[in-house]
Formats: sequence, C-alpha cells, structure tokens
Amino acid sequence: MEDERIITSTLDISEAESENTLRPQTMEEYVGQDKIKKNLKVFIKAAKSRNEALDHVLLYGPPGLGKTTLSHIIANTMNSQLRLTSGPAIEKAADLAAILTNLNENDILFIDEIHRLSHSVEEILYPAMEDFALDFVIGKGPSARSVRLSLKKFTLIGATTKAGMLTSPLRDRFGVICRLELYTPDELKKIIDRSSKILGIEIDDDASFEIAKRSRGTPRIANRLLKRVRDFGEYEGKKRIDLSIAKSALSNLDIDELGLDYIDRHILTVMLEKFKGGPVGLDTLAAATGEEPGTIEDVYEPFLLQKCLIARTPRGRVCLEEAYRHLGYAVPENIKL
Ligand SMILES: Nc1ncnc2c1ncn2[C@@H]1O[C@H](COP(=O)(O)OP(=O)(O)OP(=O)(O)O)[C@@H](O)[C@H]1O
Ligand SMILES: [Mg+2]
Repeated sequence: MEDERIITSTLDISEAESENTLRPQTMEEYVGQDKIKKNLKVFIKAAKSRNEALDHVLLYGPPGLGKTTLSHIIANTMNSQLRLTSGPAIEKAADLAAILTNLNENDILFIDEIHRLSHSVEEILYPAMEDFALDFVIGKGPSARSVRLSLKKFTLIGATTKAGMLTSPLRDRFGVICRLELYTPDELKKIIDRSSKILGIEIDDDASFEIAKRSRGTPRIANRLLKRVRDFGEYEGKKRIDLSIAKSALSNLDIDELGLDYIDRHILTVMLEKFKGGPVGLDTLAAATGEEPGTIEDVYEPFLLQKCLIARTPRGRVCLEEAYRHLGYAVPENIKL
C-alpha cells in the first residue's frame, strides 16, 4: 500500500539520482538538526586535531530525514574516504572481514540498515569497533587456535530507522549516538527554497511554506512534493508556483491541510470508529488497518505524534482532541483538556 503513496518517506529508485543533486555537501548547507551538527562539529574538530579517526557514530530516525546525507558530510568534513554498504548486503562474516581489511587509516565505513546485520556478521564487528582487530579461528578440534589480525583505525557510521532493533552490545560500541528529529515547517521551507534554486523552479514564499507544512517533517517528502507541485504548475502553463497552485496541487495529491494523506486518515478513522479513540495496541491497530506494525511505528506514527493527533500510553495508542476535530468527530467530554 505504501508504494502508491506520494508521501511515503522511503526512497524510490527513480528518485535516487535526483536525490544526489539535491543532497547538501556541507554542514552549513545541511538544514536543521542543530544539536547534532553542533556536537559533530566538536567531535570532528577534536578528532582532526588529534589526527585520529572519529569515534563510531550511530544515526537513527525515520526514513528520509538525512542520515545518508549527514554521513557524506561527515566524511567530507573529515577529508575521509567513505565506503558505503548496508546490513542486508553483507551476507557472510567473510564479506565483512574483506571490507574491513580493505579499509585505510581514517576511512569511514557507512553501514545502512545496520539493524539488519546477521548475528555472525555482527560478532565480527565487535572487536573491529573496539580494538580495530579481526579475530579468526584457524583449524578445527583440539588444534584450533584463535588469531588476531589488526585493522587500520576507521570510523563506523551506522544508520537505522529502528534503533530498538539493535542489540545492546552493538549499540554500546558507538561513541556518538544521534537521533534525528522531524523537521519544522520553517526548516523544510529552507530546504524547499534551496532545492527550487537548484532545480530552477520559481516559487513564492507562501507556496513553499505551504508545501513545507505538508511534508510530514521529512526533507525527502518536501523535495518530492516540490517536484509534483511543479508538474501541476507546468501543466497549467504557470511559470511561477504561487499559493493557489501549491494548494490545488496538494489537494489533488490528496494531502490535507495538516499534511495527512489517506492512510493517516484511515488509521485515525479506524482508531476513532472501531476503538472509540483508543487505547489500542499496536498489533491490534495494524491488523485493523491492514498495515504492518513496524510501518505504523516507523513511518506513520512519528508524524501523528508530532502533530499531537495521537499519544502513546502504556495501554496503547489514543486519539487526542485534535484528531477528533480534524476528522469532524465530536470530542468526548473526558478527553477535553
Ligand atoms: N538537513 C537537510 N538539509 C537539506 N536537505 C536534506 C536534509 N536532510 C535530507 N535532505 C534531503 O533529503 C533527501 C533524503 O535524505 P537521506 O537520503 O539522507 O535520508 P535518510 O535518512 O538516509 O533516509 P533512509 O532512511 O531512507 O536511508 C536527500 O537527498 C536530501 O536532498
Ligand atoms: Mg539513507
């Protein structure tokens, strides 16, 4: 179902190339995430002045918030070589051993979807991260002995949308753990304005702010909506995107004033109608809406939480006042603040 969504935050193949054009190259161009940027700048400066590799970095947060982008920027800033791979791509322990032994001093190894590493591969990573060493067992039975091979000092950057699925031994070996936050409409407007310049799109301020408000706090979605709105503008023969084109394009894309699409509204409607606004458990909600629990948790819920439409309680998810209002339901007395 997610494939048909214009505001899905996951990357589609045809988009990958244009993402590279829009990807900021420096910390200054990278909008928002101020705390993370500030900390990273300090750590990078310190590592550089000591002439050491940067400590291992874990980046986590929902898809499309800029984890891959930030990794490139870290590598640029460190003047380091970046090697890219991903959890599912490393099938065997030997694959990872080969990657690690080929790293040069101060290289950065980026492992996307690091929560998907298999257990045997992960075990190779522990001594590599901690002692820059690979442990091998040579031979079998009583004559077997363990051999240690030393590696060049490197930095691992792990990215994941599911920090909760990381084992604690792995998590504990990261010196720097950064949780990326959803972006504010003001930050997204900056991103849209920057992308418009790169793509040669003329757009009014109120139009780019309108797109920003409806981008689920996610730069990837902001850039995607910008392009779709441009298509509508071109179709109507407009040279410049103004507020009315932006609004009509967004409503044609079925994205409402709050930035919700039909799946968001479906989830809220199910909560309101079938579960009297909750509390409802994640698995129950997933079954009732036909979505995967993981997708609800990683993709839909963060934005619904940010918009104060729902809340998480120990007994499950509940709809808040704004959800009732937004979908045109009477707000029950007991939840009014
Ligand atoms: N802080 C930012 N400033 C400007 N543009 C950004 C920023 N973060 C992300 N983008 C834009 O959003 C796009 C998606 O970002 P990126 O690929 O880094 O996300 P991601 O977190 O790695 O996503 P995924 O979890 O799907 O791998 C980038 O191509 C870039 O153009
Ligand atoms: Mg990525």
